[in-house]
Amino acid sequence: MATDNIEEIKARVDVADLIQEYIQLKPAGTNSFKANCPFHNEKTPSFVVSKDKQIWHCFGCGEGGDIFSFVQKMEGIEFPEALRILAKKAGITLQYQDPEMSNRKTKLFDICKAAADFYHQILLDHPKAESVREYIKKRQLSEETVETWQIGFAPEAWDVLNKFLTQKGFSEEDIFQAGLTIKKDRGVGYNDRFRNRLMFPIWDTHGNVIGFGGRWLGKEENVAKYINTPQTIIYDKSRVLYGIDKAKMEIKKEKKVVVVEGYMDCIASHQAGVINVVASSGTALTPEQVKLIKRFTTDVIFAFDQDIAGNTAAKRGIEVAWQEEMSTKVIVLPGDAKDPDELIKEDPSLWKKAIGEAQSVMDYYFATTLDNADLENVDEKKRAAKTLLPVIAKLADSIEQTHYIQKLSAAIKVEESALRDKLGSLSTATTPAKKQEETTAKPQSDRYLTIAEVLIGLVMKNPEHLNYVIDQLLPQHISFEKLQQLYKKIIIYYTENQVFNYNDFVKTLTESENSLAMYMDVLSLKAEHEFDSGDGDQLERAVITSVRELKRHYIQQELKSIEQKLREAEEGNDEHQIEEFSRRFSELTAELKRVE
Ligand code: CTP
Ligand code: MN
Repeated sequence: MATDNIEEIKARVDVADLIQEYIQLKPAGTNSFKANCPFHNEKTPSFVVSKDKQIWHCFGCGEGGDIFSFVQKMEGIEFPEALRILAKKAGITLQYQDPEMSNRKTKLFDICKAAADFYHQILLDHPKAESVREYIKKRQLSEETVETWQIGFAPEAWDVLNKFLTQKGFSEEDIFQAGLTIKKDRGVGYNDRFRNRLMFPIWDTHGNVIGFGGRWLGKEENVAKYINTPQTIIYDKSRVLYGIDKAKMEIKKEKKVVVVEGYMDCIASHQAGVINVVASSGTALTPEQVKLIKRFTTDVIFAFDQDIAGNTAAKRGIEVAWQEEMSTKVIVLPGDAKDPDELIKEDPSLWKKAIGEAQSVMDYYFATTLDNADLENVDEKKRAAKTLLPVIAKLADSIEQTHYIQKLSAAIKVEESALRDKLGSLSTATTPAKKQEETTAKPQSDRYLTIAEVLIGLVMKNPEHLNYVIDQLLPQHISFEKLQQLYKKIIIYYTENQVFNYNDFVKTLTESENSLAMYMDVLSLKAEHEFDSGDGDQLERAVITSVRELKRHYIQQELKSIEQKLREAEEGNDEHQIEEFSRRFSELTAELKRVE
């Protein structure tokens, strides 16, 4: 019986130990603890945990319950998911497929787990994976590492995974929703999404497999080096931190986390015994990722592949961390190593040393901006000030700000007061940082925001076009956060139901997503306003054109940023990066051709 499970889990997982993993508890009497309530805002603690009764209760907001309700509330999840998390902690394997004990998410967890096992097994002993095993050896991944990280291989075939999983009893529809297959271009049915790729399962904090990153192993150019699981109900790229499940306890212990870019960097570091390391998977750290980190530490050390001062994505990640009041440092990789993986391969102790010598982000910015500048030259002075003042302006602490103004003033021999004047005009524009982005970004992006809003408004009212749009337009093609969030929800809803019913969809939004429901109304109005003709052909053309415009805009933006990076790599004579960026550049150019 399922209730036996529940009782057994309760017997094995202590309420105080569990809650301690999320918030700081202070002893209050024998066998009980106090804390500031995590569910409402308070300055004096009224949240109480009793070891004797194995319950928690807040006298401020009235919330309370047992270990299950705590995990549910804290993680914003349903009972079946909480049950799994706690079963794992208790070391219990759940036996029953009681419908009450599973939900949509847990079904997808099961599918992803089975897929991870499948790919892993192929890597271990399939004859066709011989060269991949060679590759693994070449990259110096130990057997234990391959095991721990469940590294796998997706063979060059159309539907082996889909077949395997359906034979295990999973439905094709569910497999598709887990992001593992794609719909066939023609006809019905599905193909495997990952083919001829080295597979990295991706876990959530609790050790559920939620998706995959797949590294291309072929020789062909113009193929994305990595592809990842798309947005699903269990995989949201902006919330994922690769390795967090394995690193979290060490992060707590060490009181700091090292954020690297790549899967391989993270794995190599763990293998070398440095375990408080996670990977951001190649993008700027998002507010959600920073909040996740914050559960374990407030000290972040970034180890990016390239020069941060010129890398806007990295800068953005650092700013996000600042906004969350995290303390941030940067690792400078010594020698020619392109990334931590290479450095570790060279000598693991160099990696440990580099972490120990991490410098404050500001000192790093100063060093990279000033080191090779000719500071007698007026243009270079201006350039240095232009790079550094905006970052100084973002510092919350005025003493810190003064410290760096003085430092800059001394370095470029410009009066402090002149710098302060400039800083003043920057500061008003930059606080809060978000506002500045909005105002400076306006004119260009306005047009694309309108296109995207009208498009989403149109397809919500004419869902017969939704299939096409979802097929063609990825969430990241829409660069406006709120609209992107809505679009992700639409994709999930539509894939789940295969139809789109406006009112029914609104009902799936939670209370906290109220503003999304209102936003939807606005979009419908906008669509009506911009497009009032009832002509079906014209509508279809509008949809196609909008999709194309948004894609093109996205690719062009990407191209611009790659171009910039490429230029920097060329300046720095970094052959690895030059090659990397050139490839990405030609991938994007090819993609651009396809949409033009
Ligand atoms: N990435 C991605 N999509 C791409 C390229 C990269 O999602 N097209 C992400 C992956 O998470 C990858 C990380 O960005 O791990 C860093 O990319 P890169 O430095 O190119 O790869 P490495 O991890 O260094 O892989 P390898 O060492 O095998 O080249
Ligand atoms: Mn690498």
